Amino acid sequence: MEEAAGDEEWYTIALWGYFAMAAIMFVLVNFCLSAPYGRHVRRGWGFSVPVREGWIIMESPALFVMALVYHAGQFHLQHVPHVLLRMHQMHYFHRTLVFPFRMRADGKAMPAAVVASGFFFNVYNSYIQARWISHIGVYPSSWLTSPQFLLGVAIFLVGFLGNIWADNVLLNLRDHKEDRSYKIPRGFLYEFITCPNYFCEIIEWLGWAIATNSVAGFFFFLSTLANLGPRAKTHHEWYHKKFNDYPRNRKALIPFLY
Ligand SMILES: NC(=O)c1ccc[n+]([C@@H]2O[C@H](COP(=O)([O-])OP(=O)(O)OC[C@H]3O[C@@H](n4cnc5c(N)ncnc54)[C@H](OP(=O)(O)O)[C@@H]3O)[C@@H](O)[C@H]2O)c1
Repeated sequence: MEEAAGDEEWYTIALWGYFAMAAIMFVLVNFCLSAPYGRHVRRGWGFSVPVREGWIIMESPALFVMALVYHAGQFHLQHVPHVLLRMHQMHYFHRTLVFPFRMRADGKAMPAAVVASGFFFNVYNSYIQARWISHIGVYPSSWLTSPQFLLGVAIFLVGFLGNIWADNVLLNLRDHKEDRSYKIPRGFLYEFITCPNYFCEIIEWLGWAIATNSVAGFFFFLSTLANLGPRAKTHHEWYHKKFNDYPRNRKALIPFLY
C-alpha cells in the first residue's frame, strides 16, 4: 500500500519500536515466564485488581486511543479506513465491554502489573494501527472490492466468530458463579487443539494484516502470535499435568502441527 507524506519518519521509528517490543515479549513469555493471570496467576507480582475491571481497563485504549488517533488522521472520512476502523472496533467492543462481563470472575484478581502492560500494549498498538489506516496508508475506494481486501475481511470474520465461539465453550464449562474449577473442553476444534480461542484470534489478525496490506497489520499479527503461541504451549502442558485423561492427540495451537 502507498504511503502519504507527513509524519512517516516518526511513524517508522514507532513501528520498529513496536516490532522490538513484540520480539522482547516473545522471548520473555517463551523462555522466562508465563503471564501471571487466569490459571497461571501467582504470588509475587505486587498488588492485584479485580479481574473484570482489570480486563476493561487493559483493553479500553483499543477503543478510545484507536478512535482518537483515527479521527486525527487526514483520511478519516474515506471509505476504506472507515471499514477498517469498524472491523477493529467490533473486535475490541466485544473484548472490552462484552467478554469481561461473561467471565466467571467474581472474587478473582489479577496483578496490576499485567493490567498495566496490557494497557501500554493497547495504547501503542492502537496508535500504530490507527495512524496507518487513517493517515499514512493510502487506500483508494477500489481497494474495497479487491480480492485481497475481501479475502482479508473474510479471514478476519472467521477468526472473530471462531474466537467468540471458542471463548463461549470455555465460559460455559463452569456451572455457576462461584465455580472456579477447570474442565476438559470438548467439541469441534477442541478435538484437535487445546486453545482454539487463541488460534482464532491469530487467524483474525492475519485477516487484518491481509486486509490492511500493511507492515503495521503484519506486526500486529506477529505480536499476537508471539504472545499467544507460548501461552498456548503453557496451557497445553498445564492440562496434561492436571488431567490424566487429557486427550493425547490434541495439539496446543495449530491442528496436527503444534
Ligand atoms: N491479542 C492478544 O495478544 C491476546 C492476549 C491475551 C488474550 N487474548 C484473548 O482474550 C481472550 C481471553 O484470553 P485468556 O488468556 O484469558 O484465555 P483462557 O485462559 O483460555 O481463558 C478464557 C476464559 O475461560 C475460562 N477457562 C479457560 N479454560 C477453562 C477450563 N478448562 N475450564 C473452565 N474455565 C476455563 C478462564 O477462566 P480463568 O480466568 O479462571 O482461567 C477465562 O475466564 C481470548 O479470546 C484470547 O484470544 C488476546
